[in-house]
Amino acid sequence: MLRVLVLGDVLSPSTVAFLCRRLWAFRRENRIDFTVVNGENAGFLSGIGSKDAALLLDGGADCITGGNHTMAAKSIYSMLDSSDRVLRPINLADGVPGAGYTILPARDRRILVFSALGCLFMEAGTPDPVPYIERVLEREAGRYDLSVLDLHAEATGEKIAASFRLDGKISAIYGTHTHVPTADETVLPNGTGYISDVGFCGRTGGVLGVKTEVMTARQKTRLRYSYSEAEGPFRAQGAIFDIDESTGKALAVKRVEFGE
Ligand SMILES: [Fe+2]
Repeated sequence: MLRVLVLGDVLSPSTVAFLCRRLWAFRRENRIDFTVVNGENAGFLSGIGSKDAALLLDGGADCITGGNHTMAAKSIYSMLDSSDRVLRPINLADGVPGAGYTILPARDRRILVFSALGCLFMEAGTPDPVPYIERVLEREAGRYDLSVLDLHAEATGEKIAASFRLDGKISAIYGTHTHVPTADETVLPNGTGYISDVGFCGRTGGVLGVKTEVMTARQKTRLRYSYSEAEGPFRAQGAIFDIDESTGKALAVKRVEFGE
């Protein structure tokens, strides 16, 4: 059995520092073999810079996935091209720096990690990610033992429908982006572990990690305010997938969180 930890959107540089303090200990306590962290917001809602990406990789992330904010910080572009551990979504336009999947060692096995973007209520014109993923699964067949997909999307229905289209083809599919965990973790009929959203990593007590007063004022006035971080304690939200390394099928999915 191989145990994969996935964590939701990292909200800010201070959250990166929190994970650097706590993630390795959580990995050891829970016997985690491989960790995927969604880093698209690590620069506090403005993409992820190469410095924060490097800190996350040192701090216990084996792979960093992306989302709709990934390309906002140009400082990540060269790292997207040079590192096989930092991904942007697979279904972006041709010619965009970086890649949307990678194959990495996980203990004595090889894990294929995908980052993909949903279409509904996201960037206009984003194409359906499933055909992109299916093409890679076909092309890389025999070069990996298990696979994981971070589907960064707003709509739970879109994520659930995509999970059924890919059931049995991928070991684990999980959602990110909404910052709110869902309670629908399951193993689908053909062996794919699934959860619609794992939540986020950041300070609690605000609105999706942003200070409450800022977001309520914005909602009342419709004006844009500069965001500032919520002030509650840090929490990291995610899920653990137990995967049979010989079949690539999921055995169990469990929601997890830790904080300080
Ligand atoms: Fe997002």
